[in-house]
Amino acid sequence: MSDIIHRPRRLRRNENLRALVRETRLAAEDFILPLFACPGENVRREVSSMPGVYNLSVDEIVREATNAYESGIRGVILFGLPEKKDETATGAYADKGIVQQAVRAIKRAVPDIVVIADTCLCEYTSHGHCGIVRKDEVLNDESVELLARTALSQAEAGADIVAPSAMMDGQVSAIREALDGGGFENIAIMSYAVKYASAFYGPFREAAGSTPAFGDRRAYQMDAANAREALREAELDYSEGADILMVKPATAYLDILKQVHDRFDLPLAAYHVSGEYAMIKAAAQMGWIDERRVMLETLTSIKRAGADIIITYYAQEAVRALRT
Ligand code: PBG
Repeated sequence: MSDIIHRPRRLRRNENLRALVRETRLAAEDFILPLFACPGENVRREVSSMPGVYNLSVDEIVREATNAYESGIRGVILFGLPEKKDETATGAYADKGIVQQAVRAIKRAVPDIVVIADTCLCEYTSHGHCGIVRKDEVLNDESVELLARTALSQAEAGADIVAPSAMMDGQVSAIREALDGGGFENIAIMSYAVKYASAFYGPFREAAGSTPAFGDRRAYQMDAANAREALREAELDYSEGADILMVKPATAYLDILKQVHDRFDLPLAAYHVSGEYAMIKAAAQMGWIDERRVMLETLTSIKRAGADIIITYYAQEAVRALRT
């Protein structure tokens, strides 16, 4: 007789047993789908480094958001490609800005969908940085003022949540104050609290046309080597009034996600970013991996590490895969 008492394999014998003891389950409501709004009509331009992701004119973005909502996805996060860019990111806070238009149109068509507006300036500045630049430096406090203005105009357009991603110090409290001052006490802030200066954003910058014209974002986004600083960043945004915290990117930072999850009691989002998506797509196109399985395994790992909300370009495909 064998002297093995514990045999974990007993519960792995078939799919029904495995399903009974499964600890993490993905569902459509875990996901937020990022969408890129661009000027024009009937525009549906695929991003070359992100197969399946498009720049969408407002009419098309409404269609995409409607499809997502009908498939069970509760929310979308919007980015914008403005008609014109300038030094002061006017397009970010214009009443008729591209994201403001998209928010209004989506809310008109699908009033119940959660619309999140990414609050940043990099898509709207001529130099591609996330704030106002003077002498090659991104100014903090001047940029925060414009971010607050941007958030307010996104709320006026009907956004349910604003998501500041510029990594300027004090941006959350300034945005909270601006929203409250405008009568938007009920509009939530999902803060990109822990955002690393990451090479995984490469394809996004093609999608959003936001590559910095000089330098990089290391003077405001975090150093990939730092974990304790992530907790400090999360603490700051928590105390400034964030309603949801975010860690970004996701898979290379699962340790950070877990630590933020263990330390803070706010809902936690993880952004599975463009490069993470592109790598799976590319390997799948080469026939080197099973895309469906790698996608689900990756998203499961993000949830297992502690994410309540997963922002991913795979949202629609994941929902489809979960159904089959
Ligand atoms: C705006 C912003 C970026 C992303 C989300 N918001 C780009 C950046 O910081 O360069 C990246 C998202 C992705 O890679 O999918 N600041």
